[in-house]
Amino acid sequence: MQIAKTIKEVRTQVKTWKSEGLTVGLVPTMGYLHEGHGSLITRARKENDRVVVSVFVNPMQFGPGEDLESYPRDLEKDSAYCESLGADLIFHPEPEEMYTAGFCSYVDMSVLTEELCGLSRPVHFRGVCTVVNKLFNIVQPNRAYFGQKDAQQLAVIRRMVEDLNMDLEIVGCPIVREEDGLAKSSRNTYLSDEERAAALVLSKAVKLGEELVKAGERDAKKIVSEMSALIQKEPLARIDYVKAVDGLTMQQIDTVKSPMLVALAVFIGKTRLIDNFAV
Ligand code: PAJ
Repeated sequence: MQIAKTIKEVRTQVKTWKSEGLTVGLVPTMGYLHEGHGSLITRARKENDRVVVSVFVNPMQFGPGEDLESYPRDLEKDSAYCESLGADLIFHPEPEEMYTAGFCSYVDMSVLTEELCGLSRPVHFRGVCTVVNKLFNIVQPNRAYFGQKDAQQLAVIRRMVEDLNMDLEIVGCPIVREEDGLAKSSRNTYLSDEERAAALVLSKAVKLGEELVKAGERDAKKIVSEMSALIQKEPLARIDYVKAVDGLTMQQIDTVKSPMLVALAVFIGKTRLIDNFAV
């Protein structure tokens, strides 16, 4: 497995693969990999001749006061993990390689980014769209893999690919959870033991919401308020949002429909965690 730090190295390698008629799958990540990322790499391994994993903590998608500096990093462990899953190349650029002096071009999106995480993190999706677009241009993959864990991000990327006529397939992959239900996340490492126990309230709320839908509840506001009430019982939890939205446009809805996304962001102490379920 090769580790490339420059765009040029990636381009040279991908060019060779393409000239041999091989297909390329891309898994964009910010590193500190866990089995959630692993599931994307494994899926990409099955569906493509070559697999590229990008490991880049993208400064552009962090707002002021967010955790850019403290975001966990461990390239050595990530490399071993990628290699064990059969990845062919890790792209691990420095920020200066991605954002050269004078950089001032962005991919921006309205509507889908005006709800949920877009409300509490105003610059976040501009940073995500811009870096993902750059990664697509650099790697030129046949397929790119994203987790349903970041459901709004997945919807935003699908919209961007359609709107801007990008020539690749976006593959969405299910949420991978810890045994007790907590969605796997690089940010779970921030949690103290007490907070780790409290964080279970997110997946419990998701389960409650899913059960209400299954039982035939059609009132989306009722589902959201019951989930919120459950979270509010946990003293260490502070709700950022719990919302039911249209699964494509991310606009709030009052009645259960398909596709629908019920998404939540909750602070456990200082750590902001997200979870969701789709209908
Ligand atoms: P990161 O948070 O590292 O996540 C990389 C990919 O792994 C995303 O598509 C995310 O949805 C997926 N993922 C994370 N946890 C998961 C879980 N428990 N189950 C399934 N998939 C999971 O998302 C980003 O990085 C960045 O925004 C990025 C797209 C790389 C752009 O910088």
